[in-house]
Amino acid sequence: MNEWLRRYARQSRRDDTAATWIIATPEGRIAAFASLSMTGIDRSEAPASLGKGSPNPVPGLLIGRLAVDQDFEGRGVGTALVQHALALAVGLNISAACKAVVVVALNAEAKAWWLRLGFHCFDEEDDDCFDLFLLTAEIEETFGAT
Ligand SMILES: CC(C)(COP(=O)(O)OP(=O)(O)OC[C@H]1O[C@@H](n2cnc3c(N)ncnc32)[C@H](O)[C@@H]1OP(=O)(O)O)[C@@H](O)C(=O)NCCC(=O)NCCS
Repeated sequence: MNEWLRRYARQSRRDDTAATWIIATPEGRIAAFASLSMTGIDRSEAPASLGKGSPNPVPGLLIGRLAVDQDFEGRGVGTALVQHALALAVGLNISAACKAVVVVALNAEAKAWWLRLGFHCFDEEDDDCFDLFLLTAEIEETFGAT
């Protein structure tokens, strides 16, 4: 993850392929980062809630990378960054349509963390499924309720 930030964050911003958001301390130390890109979700792989009535590919926002510095883990920084990405998805949905936010969980532990935030598996029956999504409509409902 550090390697990606160091080597590719600036380049992918320059190439307009990913935008990297950072949470830093006032001293400039990076506590966490997330990279975001627009994506097209293969409708044939999507569950009904995502694919039904959608074009192919289904328009979405991809959280491509997310990492929190170990010194800052467990303090809500990762959650705050995801909340920021979700708020961006709601805004994007108004201006250009974004059906869902998607992420590929890094491992089983990360998957459990995403599920806790409300994400769903593409295939609920498959324990080895690491492709996750959250409908933008669900985000809007949550924001509307707070
Ligand atoms: C996963 C990661 C982003 C979490 O970031 P974080 O800032 O530590 O997480 P937060 O502090 O926002 O959330 C912590 C909460 O999640 C809970 N949590 C932690 N790991 C969990 C897990 N595996 N399953 C369920 N809940 C978990 C904690 O108990 C805590 O709950 P609380 O707020 O009720 O006390 C971070 O650990 C990380 O960078 N991991 C390595 C890279 C990675 O896996 N990235 C995800 C890419 S898919």
